Amino acid sequence: MNEPVQSVASDPLFNPLAPDFIRNPYPHYDRLRAIDPIHVTPFGQFVASRHAEVSLVMRDKRFGKDFVERTSRRYGPDIMKEPVFRSMAHWMLQADPPDHTRLRGLVVKAFTARRVEDMRPRIQEIVDQTIDTVIGRGQMDLIEDFAFRLPVTIICEMLGIPEDHREVFYKSSREGGRLLDPVPMTPEEIAKANAATTMAQMYFQQLFELRRKSPGDDLISQLVQAEEDGNKLTNEELTANIILLFGAGHETTVNLIGNGLLALHRNPDQLALLKARPDLMTGAIEEFLRYDSSVQMTGRVALEEIDDLGGKTIPKGETVLCLLGSANHDPAVYPDHPERLDIARPNVRPLSFGGGIHFCLGAQLARIEAEIAIATLLRRLPDLRIDDVENPEWRPTFVLRGLRRLPASW
Ligand code: HEM
Repeated sequence: MNEPVQSVASDPLFNPLAPDFIRNPYPHYDRLRAIDPIHVTPFGQFVASRHAEVSLVMRDKRFGKDFVERTSRRYGPDIMKEPVFRSMAHWMLQADPPDHTRLRGLVVKAFTARRVEDMRPRIQEIVDQTIDTVIGRGQMDLIEDFAFRLPVTIICEMLGIPEDHREVFYKSSREGGRLLDPVPMTPEEIAKANAATTMAQMYFQQLFELRRKSPGDDLISQLVQAEEDGNKLTNEELTANIILLFGAGHETTVNLIGNGLLALHRNPDQLALLKARPDLMTGAIEEFLRYDSSVQMTGRVALEEIDDLGGKTIPKGETVLCLLGSANHDPAVYPDHPERLDIARPNVRPLSFGGGIHFCLGAQLARIEAEIAIATLLRRLPDLRIDDVENPEWRPTFVLRGLRRLPASW
């Protein structure tokens, strides 16, 4: 084990699980960029907060994931015996080439811009049904009753999870986010994550069996085929990457919709503008991604010594945390009040979907889901009000930034 969690609390510059940081990380990022743009944490990780270095580290081949090595270094050599870490070690998100290239290549076709465009009518239908269910009530939780259902339904349909199996996924606890945070998990958290992983593995093994016997027009059927073809994919890799797709495909998008709706309602002029000019929606989604990204951080390991990253030397094997949310507010790239929501801002290219070979596979899907969800809500419930825009309840995770609930009425 590395240093205890408490030692982070004494670090004034980067303490990402502190309630104040979770509530509003942006003033903390401003300080990091200004005072110590390549900051070293008590865990010995380097924290990059400026757009230039964040962008470089994600794209530069001298950096990689090195997951097993990095995780063993942080938790000790036995950590890879834990089911949750063994599974994560097979995620394409944590893999380096050539494994990464092979794993991503097997699923990339399902996520092309064209395939995703074809899903528009179905996405619209789900959003309309969701609103039909609540419209008579006059109130709802925008997270639970609205934002959550769409991405879960879509990823279930893409994976081919039968309708009568889905209730458990709709009810699932959304607690997996701690896996990605830069503060080590406690043994209790690891035990919980192990249990969730083992349950998911058991469920998917049964579903694979079903799809081997009766294949459908879905991703799991295709991947089961690839597994049977021999060298393309092992059973462990198959299971792990289905779990990844399921997780990556919903929490993040729920939060894009939730954070975007909160941002709009905290900025009534922007809300009014978007209602009056629905043609601004595509740009507005990019601005929501920039303004309050639902993924705040990713990381890379130096595969060789890097002699100058923002003036510091990164020894081989050390981790650089990339603060996406901070890069998105860097005045060097967004000179015109980066702290303001401006849905008509020019040249918005947020780093919220990462960069380089791990660039988010679901980026276009997430954009379209959010676009249709928010546009339809503004159109069908134009007088919707969020009950308390000043004090919303944030989930306690840092990397995945989102709201626990967002009650609204109309
Ligand atoms: C607003 C929504 C989303 C955000 C902000 C987001 C963000 C990200 C980021 C930052 C990465 C790269 C991490 C890195 O470089 O280390 C990533 C990778 C990934 N995302 Fe997303 N994501 C979103 C939605 C989705 C959806 C809807 C799916 C799938 C249905 C998805 C699937 C993936 C996968 C599979 C990867 C790994 C790709 C690879 O390693 O090659 N994401 N995402």
